[in-house]
Amino acid sequence: MRFQKYLILSAMAAFISVAVACNSGETNAEEPVEEEAATEASSEIIMPDPSELALLMRKMFDENMAMKEQIMNGGGAPESFPEEYYNLHTADATEPEKITAVYHAMGDSYLQSMKAVVDAPEGEEVKLFNNMVNTCIACHQSVSCQGPIARIKKLRIPTPDEA
Ligand code: HEC
Repeated sequence: MRFQKYLILSAMAAFISVAVACNSGETNAEEPVEEEAATEASSEIIMPDPSELALLMRKMFDENMAMKEQIMNGGGAPESFPEEYYNLHTADATEPEKITAVYHAMGDSYLQSMKAVVDAPEGEEVKLFNNMVNTCIACHQSVSCQGPIARIKKLRIPTPDEA
């Protein structure tokens, strides 16, 4: 029956999107490749284009890594707020059902903490930067997007009391 076929197909599509969304987003060339090569090759066949939100997140990750390095090298906090980050409220997600009221609240709290980094008084950059990274992680936990968390933790700037 045509309708049943449709149901089966949409169930499969739902399964595939759950399998690819909120993955680790790990494309780092420095990581060992061997172990991942096999799974990556097979998942590439079904991997749809990354969503708008996934692309924004990757950009946020890269730019935050650059901010971390700048702060660690004594270059201080970024001078201007990356306005594009506001788009996290409107960008299309791989799993739109994750974009809930909680998501938007966590998004605002993240944007606030990012502003605090830009406005950081001298000497407070590390503390405020790590606080901001925690808000990335808090949202990932709340919307059940655990995959990238290990990677996001690498953004934290080590401090003496953490060592
Ligand atoms: C308001 C909630 C929220 C905040 C804040 C947030 N994320 Fe995300 N993040 C998500 C969601 C939801 C996805 C899944 C996006 C998708 O697949 O469409 C995601 C995906 C990712 C991915 C994987 C992207 C890919 O390649 O598929 C990375 C990496 C990531 N986030 C890093 C970060 C970093 C770094 C920060 C802070 C600077 C951050 N996130 C803040 C909700 C959030």
